[in-house]
Amino acid sequence: MKKAVACLLTGAMVLSMSSAVFAEGETVGILMPTQSSERWINDGNNMKAQLEEKGYNVELQYAEDDTAQQVSQLENYVGKGVDCLVIAAVDSGVLVNAEAQAKEAGIPIIAYDRLLMDTDAVSYYATFDNKGVGTVIANYIKETKDLDAAREAGESYTIEFFMGSPDDNNALFLYNGIMEVLQEYLDDGTLVCKSGRTSFEDTCILRWSQETAQANCENILTANYADEDIDICCTAFDGFAYGVKAALLGAGYTTENWPLITGQDAEVMATKNIIDGTQTMSIYKDTRLLAEKAVSMVDAVLQGSEPEINDTEQYNNGSITVPTYMCTPVAVDQSNYQEILIDGGYYTEDQLK
Ligand code: BGC
Repeated sequence: MKKAVACLLTGAMVLSMSSAVFAEGETVGILMPTQSSERWINDGNNMKAQLEEKGYNVELQYAEDDTAQQVSQLENYVGKGVDCLVIAAVDSGVLVNAEAQAKEAGIPIIAYDRLLMDTDAVSYYATFDNKGVGTVIANYIKETKDLDAAREAGESYTIEFFMGSPDDNNALFLYNGIMEVLQEYLDDGTLVCKSGRTSFEDTCILRWSQETAQANCENILTANYADEDIDICCTAFDGFAYGVKAALLGAGYTTENWPLITGQDAEVMATKNIIDGTQTMSIYKDTRLLAEKAVSMVDAVLQGSEPEINDTEQYNNGSITVPTYMCTPVAVDQSNYQEILIDGGYYTEDQLK
């Protein structure tokens, strides 16, 4: 009899202790790739704020583009027993085993911005239309340079490409979006790539490195543009645009012969460069909206609600096709940054001074 009461008491204590532990809300572990680029800092902050507002506890870690570090951060979250994971991978290829451990432990995973490849442990994917980013960039080039008119007139523009990281699924999507629009102009000579580097393999830049983009641009300028100016630098990332800008300045380019330069993320620095004319455009990705979509996916896996999904076909990760919400990317340049970025409340006027 005494034993039974003791047993009951211990049971009640365990119950009340565990309800005390969880009374504060469930814990979401967020993994972000790097703080070296501003967008991920915004992503992390937005996710954290929105989850905390809903009563979740949040842990947020950055891996500084170090794959081993991200693996150990993930293992650590799994070991701690977080309730849900949100992951923007450095290189998702190396996370597969730790993701399987999370699945074993019953911890659902949301892929954030970058698809998690070769795993069945991921429940949902929140991202932007990654191929769409490429088509928006390429259409911007096509319209700004009026490639159809150039073709008619038998004129041409020189162009070079600086594409994303080969271990990031987004990079090839973006490249394909670009080539869907520009390939025909390369084929008929309206666009001339003097380095001959037009394939994804030849133009991709590991870990989205600004330094590599700068070095590549310096080499291309030296080897291929001694007697002719480069007209278009088609880059996939604001960080690349900064590297390209430095290389062009080093090679003596001025406002007289400054090329059209594209980018992605509409970072503060990129927007300042757009204002002063040293970058032509960028892709605005509203990280507040992306966070909102990812938070609704966290709610779905933890509270049993239905998240909004708008794609169930494009994102096969080699293991499963992941139900996805794709946000829409928008081109920003001198003509619309005020309306989109400032009036839209993304940046204040002061931040851009
Ligand atoms: C993101 C881009 C970003 C790039 C480099 C990609 O996965 O989709 O928005 O520019 O990573 O950080």
